[in-house]
Amino acid sequence: ESLLQPRADLRGKHFAITAGPTRESLDPVRYLTNHSSGKMGFALAAAARRAGAEVTLIAGPVNLPTPAGVKRVDVVDAREMQEAAERAADLCDVFIAAAAVADFRPERIAQEKIKKSDGSDRDTLALVKNPDIVAGIAARNERRPFTVGFAAETEKVLEHAAGKLSRKKLDMIIANDVSEADSGFNSERNRVTVLDPSGRTELPQSLKTALAEQLIGMIAAQAFSQ
Ligand code: CTP
Ligand code: CA
Repeated sequence: ESLLQPRADLRGKHFAITAGPTRESLDPVRYLTNHSSGKMGFALAAAARRAGAEVTLIAGPVNLPTPAGVKRVDVVDAREMQEAAERAADLCDVFIAAAAVADFRPERIAQEKIKKSDGSDRDTLALVKNPDIVAGIAARNERRPFTVGFAAETEKVLEHAAGKLSRKKLDMIIANDVSEADSGFNSERNRVTVLDPSGRTELPQSLKTALAEQLIGMIAAQAFSQ
């Protein structure tokens, strides 16, 4: 039925969207990251742009073309992503966090390639927590955009997503089960449930491009209703 729904008119609105993984350096040749492809965030950016919005897409290292008419800001690690996101959030009406931000980064980045030490078959890596980008933006008192998060879960999907919705003080969260075959990370398709403080809506599995269109419509309806 989404095809019969008129497309939202987002002319004059500004969306900021994070997408893709972050990459956290360990030394000049190594890093920590995850399997996020960035496809969902890029599809959301394209859909918001098609609906007339001005769109800033803050992208981690991904191999995707920039959607037409979208302003893209490339970043590498979580702290760079936060800086770009905070700057974009100052100017936006809607902030969507579709990025898979690395929760931790190596405590320090070695200047030289780390050598394996002789004599030991074990090693440990000291990690420190990265800032929570979307929670920081949702916690604003001023210039707070309508703030949307994603929750990629492998179990207790709705329970974990609802916890994040309230803990991070988001206006909406999009939950998806990444353990499901052909859904979520690195897939063309996705099946999600949209949660907001007033309830939940399950959407059928579909291509990320079609899903993005529907999600932008739902976000616009919430963000710009009186
Ligand atoms: N997020 C963020 N900054 C972080 C971590 C997550 O902005 N440092 C955002 C993601 O972009 C997503 C939402 O928070 O919109 C939920 O991310 P998720 O990884 O599912 O939740 P976490 O709070 O990191 O909890 P955990 O990974 O332990 O489940
Ligand atoms: Ca996380």
